[in-house]
Amino acid sequence: MRIILFTGKGGVGKTTMAAASAIKATRYGYKTLVMSADPAHNLSDCFQKKIEAYPTKIAENLYGMEINVQYELERRWDVLIDYIRLFFKSQGIEDVISDELAIPPGLDELVSLLHLLEFYEKKEFDVIILDCAPTGETLRLLSLPEVARWFMNRFFGIEKKLFKLVKPVAQPVLKTPLPNEDVLDTIQELYIKIAKLKEVLESEETTVRLVLTPEKIAINESQRAFAYINLFGYRIDCLIVNKLFPSNSSGYLSKWIEIQQNYLNEIKTCFPVPIFTVEFKDEEISGEKLFKLAEELYDSNDPTKVFFKDEPFRITKEDEEVIVSIKTPFLSKETLKVMKRGEEIIISADQWKRVIFLPQSLAFKKAVGAKLINGELKIRLR
Ligand SMILES: Nc1ncnc2c1ncn2[C@@H]1O[C@H](COP(=O)(O)OP(=O)(O)O)[C@@H](O)[C@H]1O
Ligand SMILES: [Mg+2]
Repeated sequence: MRIILFTGKGGVGKTTMAAASAIKATRYGYKTLVMSADPAHNLSDCFQKKIEAYPTKIAENLYGMEINVQYELERRWDVLIDYIRLFFKSQGIEDVISDELAIPPGLDELVSLLHLLEFYEKKEFDVIILDCAPTGETLRLLSLPEVARWFMNRFFGIEKKLFKLVKPVAQPVLKTPLPNEDVLDTIQELYIKIAKLKEVLESEETTVRLVLTPEKIAINESQRAFAYINLFGYRIDCLIVNKLFPSNSSGYLSKWIEIQQNYLNEIKTCFPVPIFTVEFKDEEISGEKLFKLAEELYDSNDPTKVFFKDEPFRITKEDEEVIVSIKTPFLSKETLKVMKRGEEIIISADQWKRVIFLPQSLAFKKAVGAKLINGELKIRLR
């Protein structure tokens, strides 16, 4: 199943491009679902049709859905939420507040991704298109499976399966309520799902598409997003530069055309993936106009094609050393920090962190150096 995620700065046209891509996919015969994971949903506005919190038919083979996080949380993860609530209460935190605290930051985003996984497993659709929130939140969303897995492993020692054994002895000593069997099962289920989710998102059938406008701020934001998405191990297969003024515009706009062309050239030289362009139309794009835009999008290509293939992460052998290579374009040596601890390599850049779980055989090797070559970080283990 093909999964395509759309992200970019606010207002650049993510939802419009996601919706038009979905329409185009149906023209190639794919049963397609376009899901909105942006809490500020606007798929309904875009299609000019009420889109529900479940797959809503829009046209032949075309379905839309706006995820309702609160509803999902209560329906599927109530056991966990109840426990978190109980946990806060035991710490002397009032009910009203603990209600609010019961949804830890990031959990709502995780719910969207778990939903995606569910559709993936059911194989009900050929293509799922995810219309994500603006870049910053999408980055948080994409870094989440890894952070959650790391955290749960640390906190609950899931892989060591210690937790269940510890429970009966520890209960009378500790003040905090230990989770009961149901909660433990839920946590384990969640853990397994997150691991699967990571696998799906990192696989070759999933790609991210960045939408941007030909403006300095959008380019800068896209460069950072490009770097971090790569760092997390996901694949970007193309960029869509939206809202380009038609080249026959005259008068007031002629200066803008020149400015935009310069930015477009800059985008073409600095991003190592195919670039598609979309003209600034003379009115907003919704309803029927989306169907027209779909025809132009991606030139005459199948929109589900993987336009660029790359390995964001590789482990190779060189003589006595093992080299772990990670794509980190646009990142400087100064922002990158690398740490190795047992079977984990932790790479951080600004506030973002990637934890790479190495195969067991590499756990005892020492990191002897790291180099940044052509936008790729190479860590040497010996
Ligand atoms: N190529 C375009 N020409 C004209 N209007 C556009 C174009 N792309 C998007 N728009 C309009 O810009 C607004 C923001 O687009 P939207 O897709 O909702 O952005 P985002 O999801 O990134 O916030 C909408 O009103 C949309 O109709
Ligand atoms: Mg949007």
